[in-house]
Amino acid sequence: MPIEQIGVVGCGLMGSGIAQTAAQAGFTVVVREVSPALLERGLQSIEKNLARLVEKGVLTGAAAKEARARLRGTTALEDLRACDLIIEAIIESLPAKRELFAALDALCPPAAIFASNTSSMCITEMAFATKRPERFLGLHFFNPVPVMNLVELIRTVATAPAVFEEVLAFVARLGKTPVRVADRPGFVVNRLLIPYLLDAVRALEEGLASLEDMDTAMKLGCGHPMGPFTLLDFVGLDTTLYIANILFDEFREPRFAPPPLLKRMVMAGWIGRKAGRGFYDYSDPKNPRPVALL
Ligand SMILES: NC(=O)c1ccc[n+]([C@@H]2O[C@H](COP(=O)([O-])OP(=O)(O)OC[C@H]3O[C@@H](n4cnc5c(N)ncnc54)[C@H](O)[C@@H]3O)[C@@H](O)[C@H]2O)c1
Repeated sequence: MPIEQIGVVGCGLMGSGIAQTAAQAGFTVVVREVSPALLERGLQSIEKNLARLVEKGVLTGAAAKEARARLRGTTALEDLRACDLIIEAIIESLPAKRELFAALDALCPPAAIFASNTSSMCITEMAFATKRPERFLGLHFFNPVPVMNLVELIRTVATAPAVFEEVLAFVARLGKTPVRVADRPGFVVNRLLIPYLLDAVRALEEGLASLEDMDTAMKLGCGHPMGPFTLLDFVGLDTTLYIANILFDEFREPRFAPPPLLKRMVMAGWIGRKAGRGFYDYSDPKNPRPVALL
C-alpha cells in the first residue's frame, strides 16, 4: 500500500512546516493540535507561508489553494485513524511522546507507520512504547521545513527494511533528500556539528583568536555560510548545551563535553539571537556586535 494519507501531530514550528510540505507535494494531510486556538495559529501560519510563496512567484494561486484544500486540522486523535503514515512533531518530551504513540497504537490499524521528528530523543525508546516497533522510525526534518532539503531517516534495530524504504520513497516524493542513519544521539548532523561548535568555544576560551576572526576564518577558509559563533547564536546556546549533554551522556567522550563558558552563558541567559545576546549583542539587529566575554 503506497503512502497517501499523512497524519501530523503538533502544528507548531515543525509540524506546520511538515503538514504544509506534504500538502504541497500532493498528499492528503490531517494535522492534530491540542486546542482549537493552537490549531488555528498553526493553520494560519501555513496559510501565511503559502501566500508568501504565491507572492514570490514560487507557487501559483491555484496550487496554493489546492494544497490548502488537501490539509485538514483537528483536535481529535481519532481523526488520524485512516492515515498511512503519522509524523509526530510535539514538544520534546519523551514521556509525552511515548504516551502519544501508545494512544495512536491502540487507535490505528496495524499497517500504519509511525515516525518521530525528535531532534534528541531515542527513537528506539519511543518505538517500544508501541506494539509495532518494526513500523516505527525517525524522520528528522530541518527548520524551516519548506525550505530545508535534508531529512534524516533513522532506523532502530527493529525497523523493518521494507518500511524504511517505503518512507524513503515518501521523502523523495516530498522533493526532499533523505539520508539513512542509525538510532544514535545527534543522528548525523548534530553528531558532527556539535563537537565543532564546542571546539570553537574551547578555542575562544584558550585565546586562539577573537570570535569575529574565527567566524571570518571559517566563512572564507571553508566556505561556510556563517561562522561557528554566529551559528551558535542562531541555533541557541541552550539548545546546543542540551544536545551536547545528551551526546556526552551517551558516549562519555571529552569532545562532547560542554565547555564552562558555554554553560555560564546559558546560566546568564545569554543564549543567542532569541535573547538579544549570545556571542554577539543584537540590540541593533542589522549590526551585531561581538560581546567581550573573557
Ligand atoms: N525547532 C527546530 O528547529 C526543530 C528541528 C528539528 C526537529 N525538531 C523537533 O520537532 C518537535 C517539535 O518542535 P517544534 O520546534 O515544532 O516545537 P513547537 O513548540 O513549535 O511545537 C510543538 C507543538 O506541539 C503541540 N503539542 C504538544 N503535545 C501535543 C499532542 N499530544 N498532540 C498534538 N499537539 C501537541 C504544542 O501545542 C505545540 O504547538 C520536537 O520534537 C523537536 O525536537 C525541532
